Amino acid sequence: SSSKILIKGGTVVNAHHQEIADVYVEDGIIVAVQSNLKVGDDVVVLDATGKYVMPGGIDPHTHLDMEFMGTQTIDDFFSGQAAALAGGTTMHIDFVIPVNGSLTAGLELYKQKAQKSCMDYGFHMAVTKWDEVVSREMDLMVKEEGINSFKFFMAYKGSFMINDELLIEGFKKCKSLGALPMVHAENGDAVFEGQKRMIELGITGPEGHALSRPPLLEGEATSRAIRLARFVNTPLYVVHVMSIDAMEEVAKARKSGQRVIGEAVVSGLILNDSVLWDPDFSIAAKYVMSPPIREAGHGKALQGALSSGVLQLVGTDHCTFNSAQKAFGIDDFRKIPNGVNGLEERMHLVWDTMVESGQMSVSDYVRITSTECAKIFNIYPKKGAILPGSDADIIILNPNASFTISAELHHYRTDTNVYEGVTGKGKVEVTIAGGKIVWQNGELKAFPGSGKYVEMPPFSYVFDGIEKADSSYLSSLKAPVKRFRSST
Ligand code: URP
Ligand code: ZN
Ligand code: ZN
Ligand code: ZN
Repeated sequence: SSSKILIKGGTVVNAHHQEIADVYVEDGIIVAVQSNLKVGDDVVVLDATGKYVMPGGIDPHTHLDMEFMGTQTIDDFFSGQAAALAGGTTMHIDFVIPVNGSLTAGLELYKQKAQKSCMDYGFHMAVTKWDEVVSREMDLMVKEEGINSFKFFMAYKGSFMINDELLIEGFKKCKSLGALPMVHAENGDAVFEGQKRMIELGITGPEGHALSRPPLLEGEATSRAIRLARFVNTPLYVVHVMSIDAMEEVAKARKSGQRVIGEAVVSGLILNDSVLWDPDFSIAAKYVMSPPIREAGHGKALQGALSSGVLQLVGTDHCTFNSAQKAFGIDDFRKIPNGVNGLEERMHLVWDTMVESGQMSVSDYVRITSTECAKIFNIYPKKGAILPGSDADIIILNPNASFTISAELHHYRTDTNVYEGVTGKGKVEVTIAGGKIVWQNGELKAFPGSGKYVEMPPFSYVFDGIEKADSSYLSSLKAPVKRFRSST
């Protein structure tokens, strides 16, 4: 049976260490990592000589089966995950969207959607309004439901967007729960003004999307979120850092000692905005996402930020629509559903862009595609490592083989691919998820219902840090307090 697997002779790479070793898997768990393992003849043996054996990818940012901008993303928890497995990703964390502001109703809906999962998954929870009920629901999410992160949208005015008051309340609540607040950082009110300007100028095509929400507005919101997190004294996770402007805010905060995590996404590293000017709407529209794909130069800077550690991990923001859905915005870019693909391509494109190009070591690749995510969301070393006792989510990557991306070949439901025609070096030849071979020789064996929900516990280190850090914040207020007292 395939519940016992031996991976022989590969270079086993963890974020902390690499060595040539065999890896033995039984019943979904890694049992041993050592040289010259001897096993019985009921074991499936995979030869990994000359190849890398690494933890399966973990995508921290996806939107499967999401109701958004008047439509529904086309990849669901089966098609999106099956594609992920074919590309070497074995876990993702999806964003639960509340139903009429209710977190509980949102979670119930997403639990239903995720029943057909064929790989492990976790949830972040979006918070789109604020009242006592939402506040109590956040307790429930952390204490009963295995959710330790909450996302606040500073953009999407009129739907998901929240104001600074909610942001502060949400940050405070996260801090009290040991949960991590996340932000989509764009100034939604200014974006609204930018969109009006474009329409007044008669710019209604996809290029208007990028022109209406420049890097300036991403930088402003990133700076504001970071400063408010500092004011509340909570760690902060900035999703999809797409511009130099936002990245520099993250860099500045980290340099000052603030606990800010910056997430890159594949589209932001690789694409540039020239595609949005394509005269063919059906081509340009597929690249519309928020924050927008930026001018050439931003991507290269974001790659540098990943290799220097200013940004800590890379996700996809996978959020797919087919051409018919993108065409809702043919007369008005504001109606183009926002989002691009990436779940299946991430591991290949990051390898080619960061490792094959010489910008990053293989260990660092494992860190930014898997280990760091597992650590940030408190599921390491169950996930994100090839260690005895860890879940058997493993890939075998052949650095000498190449990959080709196209809508013809991909495993999504969507009919286009933003990386159409891209080729590169480094190919995921085998994916093992939950101890089963699910991808080998170009053949996918994904079974609905085989994926498990991964609970993410809250962070004790937040609690541990609060008292100390708060007292230093209070002591910085001491002088004015004393002056006030002595003058009365
Ligand atoms: O365009 C995007 N990014 N769509 C998904 C929703 C979000 O903002 O992450
Ligand atoms: Zn070792
Ligand atoms: Zn977002
Ligand atoms: Zn997103």
